[in-house]
Parts: sequence; C-alpha cells; structure tokens
Amino acid sequence: MKKNLLLFGFLLVGMFALQAQTVVRGPYLQSVTHQSIKVMWRTSTACPSKVWYGTDPNALDQSVVVSGNRTNHIVFINGLNPSTRYYYSVGFDNTTLAGASVNHYFTTHPVPGSPVPVRVWAIGDFGRGNAGQVAVKTSYENYTGTRGTDVWLWLGDNAYQDGTDAEYQNHVFAVPGFSDIFSNTPFWPSPGNHDYNTVWSESTLLGIPYTNIPFSAHEGPYFDMVEVPRYAEAGGFPSQHEVFYSFDYGDVHFLSLNSEVFDYTLSYSGINQMKTWIEQDLQQNTRKFTIAYFHQPPYSKGSHDSDAAFELVMKAMREKVIPLLESFDIDIVVCGHSHVFERSYLIKGHYGNSSEYNAATMLMNGTMGNFQQGESYVKDSTNATPEGTVYVVCGNSGSSESGPALNHPVMAYTHGGSGEMGSFVMDIYRNRLDGRYLKSTGEIADEFTILKKDVRLSAIALQTVCLGDSAVLTANYTGGSDSVTFVWNPGGYTSQSITVSPVTNSVYTVTVTDWLTGQVETRAATVQVLEESNITISEPVPGTLSIPSPGNGFSYQWYLNGSPVQGANGLQFTPFFNGNYTLLITSVNGCSYETPPYTFINVANVVENETAELSVFPNPSSGILHIKISGPLTGKPFAIHDAAGKVVYNGVLQQMYTQIQLQEFENGTYFLRIQDAETDKSYPLILMK
Ligand SMILES: [Fe+2]
Repeated sequence: MKKNLLLFGFLLVGMFALQAQTVVRGPYLQSVTHQSIKVMWRTSTACPSKVWYGTDPNALDQSVVVSGNRTNHIVFINGLNPSTRYYYSVGFDNTTLAGASVNHYFTTHPVPGSPVPVRVWAIGDFGRGNAGQVAVKTSYENYTGTRGTDVWLWLGDNAYQDGTDAEYQNHVFAVPGFSDIFSNTPFWPSPGNHDYNTVWSESTLLGIPYTNIPFSAHEGPYFDMVEVPRYAEAGGFPSQHEVFYSFDYGDVHFLSLNSEVFDYTLSYSGINQMKTWIEQDLQQNTRKFTIAYFHQPPYSKGSHDSDAAFELVMKAMREKVIPLLESFDIDIVVCGHSHVFERSYLIKGHYGNSSEYNAATMLMNGTMGNFQQGESYVKDSTNATPEGTVYVVCGNSGSSESGPALNHPVMAYTHGGSGEMGSFVMDIYRNRLDGRYLKSTGEIADEFTILKKDVRLSAIALQTVCLGDSAVLTANYTGGSDSVTFVWNPGGYTSQSITVSPVTNSVYTVTVTDWLTGQVETRAATVQVLEESNITISEPVPGTLSIPSPGNGFSYQWYLNGSPVQGANGLQFTPFFNGNYTLLITSVNGCSYETPPYTFINVANVVENETAELSVFPNPSSGILHIKISGPLTGKPFAIHDAAGKVVYNGVLQQMYTQIQLQEFENGTYFLRIQDAETDKSYPLILMK
C-alpha cells in the first residue's frame, strides 16, 4: 500500500512537471516556401517537439514529431500545398502547449513565379520593447486588416541594445501588443550592427578577431533565432549559410543582404564574397520585381550621415555593392540603421558622397512618383540598360532621433524627429509596385509607384484558309497591367482575338496598349487564301526542296515532271532525280493549290571530279551518276572501265547532262574515260550501293 502511494506520488509530481511546461517564446515561423515551413518555439524546460496541423482549425489531422528533449524547438513541415492556410498547434506527446486557435496559422507561398498580389511590410530598428514599436505594429495592422502580410522584412538592429537573447526575448518576442503577430506571420530577417555586437563577441571567442571571420563562424542569438533558407528552398540561389540569402514570393525576388560582413581591415573580403553570391543570384533571377534589403543604407542624413568619414560600412555598401545591384536594374533597396524615414527619387549611378551627386546624370525620374498625379516611375523592361532604383531608409519602426538633418539630395521624401516612427509597406501586382510610408499615427505620408513596360507580344503565325473560310487571329502576350487594350486593323476590332474571312492574301495589324505604362506594341499577322497563296518551292538547304508552312490541316503531294512521286507527301522533299518539281497543297476543306515548277539540279554533291568543263556527281555514287559538261565536250564518246580496265559502259556525252545507271555493277572503283583525237581524260569513280 505504501509502495502504491509512493508510486501515485511520483505520478503526481510527473503530472505537475508536465503542467509546468510552458512556451516562453513563439511559436514563430521561419523559411516558409510553397511546400514547407519551419515552426519554432521555446519551452521553459526541455521536452520533445510536436506540431499538429491541418487546413481545418477544428481538425489538426496531421503532425510532425521530433524526439529527444530540448527547449528551443524547430519542426520542419514538408509536403504542404502552395497558397494554402494551415492551422497548427505545438507541444509534445499528447500535450498541446500553444496553438489550436484562430491566431495560430501559416499560409504557404504561391509557387515561385506565380503572378499573385504581394504585400510586404518592412520594419527597421524596432526591437526596443517601447510604445512606439507597438504603435507602428498597430498602425500596420489597422492598415492591412484581414488582407494580412505576405512578406515581413526585418531591416536589422532587431533587438536593442546588443541583440542578446534576453533582448530578443524582452524587446521582440514577448512585447505585449507586438508579439501576437509571430504565430501567423513568418519574418525574413537581416541583421544590423547592434545584432552583431553579440555575433562578434561570441565569434571572437574562437580566437579570431571580428574581421574576416568565415561566414560559417557567424554565431550568436540572432543566428540561433533565425532559420533562413541556405539552399534556395524558397527560390533564388543558395548562399549555403544564414549570413545572407534570397527567396521569392510570387513574381518578386528578395535578397536579404548583410552590411555587417564589412570588415574593418578594409580587405573587403566579406563584401567581395557577398558580391560573388549576389551576382550568381541575380544572374539566375527572372522575377518581375527585385528588392534588396540590409541594415546600413548607402544614402542617409538621418541619425547616421552617409557622408561622415567614420561611416565605413555605409560607404562600402554604396561603393562596392550598389553598383552591382544597379547593374541588374534592381527596383528597390530598403535599409534601416538611420532612425528616420527617407525615400529617394528614381536614381542610378550615385556612388560617392552627397556632394558628388549629379542630378543631370544620376536622376532618372525627379518626380514624387505619385500614381494619382500621373508621375509613376516607369521602367522599360525591354531596355537592356538599367533604369534606376528607389532607395528607402526605414529605421524608425521603434527608434527615433531628435533633429535629424534629412537633407540628402537623392531623397524625395523624408520624415523623422523625436517620437516620429513608421514602417514601409509595398504592394506588388503584375507590373506595378506601390511603396507607402505608414506613420505610427496611421497616416500614409508618402506614396510612390514603379511601373514596368513589360508587354511582350508573341509573333502571330501565318494562317492559310480556303476562299470563303475564316481564320482566328489572337494577340498572345505576356506582362502588362490589367489595363491592356487591343486594336486590329483593318477593321478597328478591339477584342484580343478576331475572326477574319479574307478573299485575298491579307495582312492584319494588332496594336496592344498598356494604359498604365503607355507602352504600345504592334504585330502583323498574315492570312493567305490558299487558291491565291503564291506559295513557291525553294531550296534553302541544297538538295532539299521545301515550302513555307501554310499552317496545320493540309496534305501535300510532290510531282516530278508532272507525275506524282510516291511517298513524297511532306512540306519537305529530298529528290533523287533532277527535273521540274511542283507541289500540290490540299486543305481539309478540299481546296487546293499547285505551286509553280521548280527546276532541281543536284549541285550539292558536286565536290569532286570537277573541272571548268566537266563534273561528275555524286561521287561516290549509289548507282545513278550524272555527268555535267560545258559546250566543247558535247557529243564526245565516253567509256567506263572497271579497275581491270574492262569497258563496262559506253556512250556519248549529251549537252549539259548525261545520266548513267550503274546499279547492276559491283561496288568498287571505276574510271570514266573521255577519249578522241583531241581529248584524253580519265576520272576515278567509286560505286557504293
Ligand atoms: Fe544600426
């Protein structure tokens, strides 16, 4: 009995131990792709990991278990469907610790490249656990409402003062009014100099000074916290580490760069390694819009002055990295670090101090870029030359400074000052990107639009019809906005496809206009009437006759000197005999057309036994030999000898061409001999049947 009581006591203690298990961080979401996600959380004491998930919040019918005990949990879920909302809960064994609520869900990405609307929310220098940080988040929630967030970007200096684990806990994950977003919105981080205060201090424990540390040795709370794609799981090019990386959402490509790889020995080795990867990444990038973000901005006159001599990282990013990004015509660069909001015009080629900025050569568009005012920044994607980039600094999503200068000449709009905070929102759909500065008060204080002229109109194939029949012509195209119109001429038709019934060969022209960008593209389409088609035989490849395809649904018969050639029923034909060839083309509707004759003389094989006055071809011959002569040899007798000198064939050379049949002779070497009182010529022939 006593024994049983003791056992009961142990069970009670065990149950209380389980009950005491709590989630102290998260759950939060990382590395979401179109088919997978990583769910992370921290527990008060070590336990196994389990995530239950499903598309019905009341039936989390799938689960993933990671055995073994730990406090920092990472559960990788794979095999998910794209663009799908899943609800989830976390815990272990049969114990749910968090989740199973309407606030615990994640939405997988669309398949990379999908032309879907994308909403991006970017915050910088936010992790202070203050009221401003919460106000910035609340203003965004009010703004986005049920629309939610597709891509949440962290611009660095995510946890003040030094990016320690406790600061990430107290200033990011456990901030009342801020932390509830983590259970349903994955974030895509980049680190700042404050995050790197602990990265460097932990890395220097390795005995390496905090310059030139291999990327694999970048360690610390920031890297413990994040799980970013190393191997292009979400698109892009693999970086193989978490120091910088890239990913796609729909038709938008993101590069999370790392300004802290700058090393103070000025060897630029970290920067150069990052540049090598950027180049690999952007060379394979085909997304419509490309956005790079990192912490220390190339241009700012906020709490950091990009002209200051000691701002070596800002200078290095501006001089070393920006030219590379611009060479790929990147659309937006978003940074933090300066505790203000600054947004540039559309610029290109400014790699020096602000005093060296030359609007005459570097300003691509000096308007505010406001769509409503008709001032969007329009970039021509059909132009191989880069068309400019908009630079954004948004380091005031929890931090602010009093009295920033805010007078950098590239900036179109600035905002800052004590307590002045906000965040940066982007909406991208098709060929339009809208950028908005959202103050913590809820006011949209700045708004600009980048548009792309990207309509590409496909060639319209030639069509051939019988007289009286009709053809459908379609203007197939890619790109463009949802304000694309069509005009076909003659006729002035305005649909994308038209049906025409020409009585004679006709050319139609379609004009496609994207009214958002003003781009106009035209294509001509030809419809020929078979009976009048004027199709002619040509010999584009010597030895092979062909006609341009009149389209599908036709049958063909080749004729030699008026007689059908058996089995010659294609668009192309390789004749064996010289002569006059015609082609009869017949439509399924029963009309037909016969081409004008084409005189075929096989000159393709005239490569041997050729003199000014005589050529023998083909040689080697498979049985039929042609002798072509010029005038003086006409009428001369010839003989063909075998290798032993015996005459096996003789005759008289005809004017121009003589054809000899040798099929009945054995394979081997023969000699053509032309011999009379004036002439004695001999040519070797090879017979290979
Ligand atoms: Fe910073």
